[in-house]
Amino acid sequence: MNTPSQPPEPTNTVEYAPGWYAIAEGDEVPRNRPVKLRRFGVDLVVFRRKDGSIACLDDRCKHRGASLSLGRVKGDCVACPFHGFEFDGDGACKHLPVLGPGAKIPKALDTRAYTVREQDDWLWLYWGEAPKELPAIPRFAHLHAGNHRAHTIAREWNASFVRVIENQLDPFHLPFVHKSTIGRGMPEAMTVHHVEEETRITAWPGEAREDPRSGFYIDFYWANLWENHISDKLSIVAAFAPIDATRTRTYLRTYQGFVTIPVLGWLVDRVMALSNDKIFKQDEGVVVSQPQTPLIAEDEILVKADGAIIAYRKMYARALREKHGADADRAAG
Ligand code: FES
Ligand SMILES: [Fe+2]
Repeated sequence: MNTPSQPPEPTNTVEYAPGWYAIAEGDEVPRNRPVKLRRFGVDLVVFRRKDGSIACLDDRCKHRGASLSLGRVKGDCVACPFHGFEFDGDGACKHLPVLGPGAKIPKALDTRAYTVREQDDWLWLYWGEAPKELPAIPRFAHLHAGNHRAHTIAREWNASFVRVIENQLDPFHLPFVHKSTIGRGMPEAMTVHHVEEETRITAWPGEAREDPRSGFYIDFYWANLWENHISDKLSIVAAFAPIDATRTRTYLRTYQGFVTIPVLGWLVDRVMALSNDKIFKQDEGVVVSQPQTPLIAEDEILVKADGAIIAYRKMYARALREKHGADADRAAG
């Protein structure tokens, strides 16, 4: 009897590559209340310890599965709403009310804690097995040295974060997708240059340059932070937070240094937000229309102007290779 042939194993399903990801903004997590975030296809609970530092655990209680984010913050712990079990920021179960004070708490109740930090008003999560020495958290330093003001909008799309990132590494869609806005009058034929560093890709359309980071350019920092440097006084920074394989919450933050007077600056920030929203909506239609899985497309015919996307896909593949190598080493003991 013939055995029916099995469908081929997908070679590149949904595997998030390791690294620092900006997953939310600091003010989404208040001092006294746990917050639920879905990221990387996992429900997470995020809360602040007494000293204000951020902590992140699996949202599902190890006891009987209630959502910890429906509970409350108690000191350095989050307390489950169902039976009050308390978990600290390292995931250790510290208190089990039903057993009374001083009871021995089973280790099995300890839950998964994620490596998280707060920097530049972003909440950062290191996805993957955190190495002993954590890499530096990405930062566009020039935006934090001067007197730039920042204002953020966030939008959710039915697209993978990889597709959203790739869209932002592609300047030659502008005269098509954005012909009524930022691409108006832009020539369809253009040369796109890019330079690759270990964790950074910088791209710009037009002439070759000595200094890639001058004037108008696009800059990407592994794993999900991006800047469109329009001028020294105006930048748009985006963080592409993966909700799951096919949904992304993108934070678009405008940094501007030309109007810093409070009320006027507030007005400019809002106008910029409106225009970003309109431009970003133009992108949504085409990006959502692309296949969203596998995360890294394997059957597309890219052209020279896609150089920055090719560089990103290479970076992604390298990060996965390194992860698989480390996983194999661990398994071998
Ligand atoms: S389900 Fe969380 S304490 Fe029981
Ligand atoms: Fe676009």
